Amino acid sequence: MSNDVDKPIPVSPHKNSLQFRKSADVSLTIEALMEGNHVIIADYYSSGLLLLKELKKHLNQSLPNKSFLEQREYRAEYQKLSNRILMEVKNHSLAVKKSPAIGWLKKLYPESNQFYLTLPQIQGLNSAWQWYIKGVSIPVLRNKIHPYYGVYFPTRFDHLIVFDNWLKRYSGPKKSAMDIGIGSGVLSLQMMKYGFQKVYGTDVNTNAIIGFKEFMGDTKLSRKIELDNGNLFGKWDQKTELIVINPPWLPKSHDLNRLDEAMYYHDTLFEEFFSGAKQRLLPDGKIVLLFSNLAQLTGAAEEHPIEKELAEGGRFKLENCYKKRAKSASSKTKRNQTWRDSEEVELWELSRLE
Ligand SMILES: C[S@@+](CC[C@H](N)C(=O)[O-])C[C@H]1O[C@@H](n2cnc3c(N)ncnc32)[C@H](O)[C@@H]1O
Repeated sequence: MSNDVDKPIPVSPHKNSLQFRKSADVSLTIEALMEGNHVIIADYYSSGLLLLKELKKHLNQSLPNKSFLEQREYRAEYQKLSNRILMEVKNHSLAVKKSPAIGWLKKLYPESNQFYLTLPQIQGLNSAWQWYIKGVSIPVLRNKIHPYYGVYFPTRFDHLIVFDNWLKRYSGPKKSAMDIGIGSGVLSLQMMKYGFQKVYGTDVNTNAIIGFKEFMGDTKLSRKIELDNGNLFGKWDQKTELIVINPPWLPKSHDLNRLDEAMYYHDTLFEEFFSGAKQRLLPDGKIVLLFSNLAQLTGAAEEHPIEKELAEGGRFKLENCYKKRAKSASSKTKRNQTWRDSEEVELWELSRLE
């Protein structure tokens, strides 16, 4: 697995790139974007935002945006054109005036002094930086987490509450556990809270491993949680009494990027997980899977991968399944999504069959 941090790749501006300032002609600039030219923002950060706003206005007037297909085309066009708008990064800061301070420009590009990124990339870096420095409060944890660039972090907490209740009642041994797909580390931190002595964590996303290592620093935690950047169990072959996974909840339907891998699973993921878990689970050990009925409600999956394993796998049996109605993310996203009302998170507790 590569140990390189995942970050937006700098863009080389075309020779015939235009410069854009507040006073420039917006229609001519949009025309240039449509012809395939790069436009470099040359005065203020807000000029970039202005150009994006005007670009949206232009597309709203020129493209239909109603049906599902039209919306997809609209988004694709917006993405294509907005990614031709560039900003210069100089000495780890944006070169334009009155721009936000984005610490990732130093952390992720320590050796690059001058380069260009697209405005959408910069917006992504900026909002990720805000999350990282302000931190995210998690109801079941005492301290905030500080999600690293490009790493999944929870924004809804029902599954964490269910896991917390499970850990509260769990009376088995607490010598060691595995956290498969550790993300920002919340499940491992919960296990620490309930007295687990050692956790072996993995993630396919390099940034998750780099970020959580940085988060732990040189504290006691860093000696109790060991990390590996790898697929599923990574390099961990030892047997443990608990294996925890909060896998992606939806089947993959397109090519995945790093963050998508937190949301969508490949069709072999569950088979590989259960077969690996069988080799690593101690005789009286438990597997805990956090899941939801999201894929079934939205029609995204025909089968439930955990029910399938229980019915056909011949490896594990069901000990308990706890369900909790999921709270909506926000009233804004609730529109046209009546299935949200029946969304439930699930905690599946499995043990070995023999
Ligand atoms: C839904 S997130 C859960 C993260 C964290 N455990 C939590 O509960 O907040 C799923 C995580 O699994 C990781 N992941 C996806 N496929 C994986 C695989 N095959 N092996 C290891 N990690 C994987 C993703 O990168 C992501 O960080």
